[in-house]
Amino acid sequence: MKKIIINGGRKLRGDIFVSGMKNAALPIVFASILTADECTLENLPNVTDVNLSLKILESMGAQVTRLNQTTVRVDTRHFLPVNTCGDMVSKLRASTYLLGAELGRFGEALVGLSGGCDFGVRPIDQHIKGFEALGAVASVENGCNHVVAGKGGLRGGSVYLDIASVGATINVMLAAVLARGRTTIDNAAREPHIVDLANFLNMCGARISGAGTSFIKITGVEKLHGCTYTIIPDMIEAGTYMVAAAATGGRVTVRGVIPKHLETVTAKLIEMGAGVDEGDDCITVSRTSRLNRANIKTYFYPGFPTDMHPQFGALLATADGTSVITEGVFDNRFRYVDELVKMNAEIKVVGRTATVIGKPGLTGAPVKAVDLRAGAALIIAGLAAEGVTEITGVETIERGYDDIVGKLRGLGADITLRETFADNIEKAV
Ligand code: UD1
Repeated sequence: MKKIIINGGRKLRGDIFVSGMKNAALPIVFASILTADECTLENLPNVTDVNLSLKILESMGAQVTRLNQTTVRVDTRHFLPVNTCGDMVSKLRASTYLLGAELGRFGEALVGLSGGCDFGVRPIDQHIKGFEALGAVASVENGCNHVVAGKGGLRGGSVYLDIASVGATINVMLAAVLARGRTTIDNAAREPHIVDLANFLNMCGARISGAGTSFIKITGVEKLHGCTYTIIPDMIEAGTYMVAAAATGGRVTVRGVIPKHLETVTAKLIEMGAGVDEGDDCITVSRTSRLNRANIKTYFYPGFPTDMHPQFGALLATADGTSVITEGVFDNRFRYVDELVKMNAEIKVVGRTATVIGKPGLTGAPVKAVDLRAGAALIIAGLAAEGVTEITGVETIERGYDDIVGKLRGLGADITLRETFADNIEKAV
């Protein structure tokens, strides 16, 4: 079993570079299906979720060539929409994007129920509502979602999303780019990765406007073509390192970021008393005294990102005073709390609210990463704590963080990834 071992209490210092954004890379990989051509994707993060998305495409006839560590060429000319009810899709939340991409290109998709982090129920009713507005018929068959375009193919339609869902906005965009006529998405998600997907698709010949606002317009085109596209930097990875810097003290410059995407994180760190300096593509975080308490309410972008909630939970656990975190996006994002409590944090959860009673220090302990960002929170807590923290569930962290152990070691952290002989055999097979 893989473990991350942290000997805590060291101040982080130095520069760290962020990788491409996982949540932008995933829809763009699946969107390449729509081009039936060759796309070269640059700045892809080397994380297991993205690698799995490429494997899924490969298993369906796409040709995937790794040109270097961060660049992949995907040729989807021979991609075939075979039934994907298998094991691979069930491990990846983003495999739902196969529905929109296959429906858009082939007029039909049969895709197994997707996996991903367990934040409570994660329905796709808004995705389905969007497909139906384009004339598709949807059903669930033997544990798979089946969507079929109406006679004559998909046609543009008006979609009003009841929730500004990232996944539903992406899936409707994917289905609509090749549909006949004009589609509008009202109450669309505004996250930076929605803009990145629109930029990629437009570079392939799509006609999408309004991405980044809550009203997106898509005029269907006959055909797309391939392109070379660079994925935006990962704001959640950057935010995680900013919080790690604040939690341990010291001074860290996070490089290769878009500071605008991190405004809420920056504002919260400043409110808590950290030093934050923004450059054009870097942010420096420092801390000299104990941080102050703060309240957090997560919400859809440009609100405070739910994907930064657990990391701030770890930070607030050592702040001066009592903080309240209110989760505004998912039903159950508090599974990290029980693990932090093992490290001497004092946190009480009622419904969607956590009350965090800050203590001067945490203590290292054996803990388990129960989801991706929960794992990031435990790493932050372990770096700040006195003593040794052993984290299991490392595979969950590797789904979304590119070489987090190596990058943190570069900042002076005493952190190691321990792989057993069995782990290495599994990797080789
Ligand atoms: C994506 C991200 C995830 C992030 C989340 C919110 C990926 C692969 N994952 O997840 O990291 O935490 O956005 O920023 O990009 N909902 C419905 N019906 C639907 C769709 C969603 O009720 O049809 C609800 C969800 O249960 C949740 C909320 O809407 O409560 C937001 O979900 P959504 O924005 O769709 O998140 P994901 O795309 O699953």
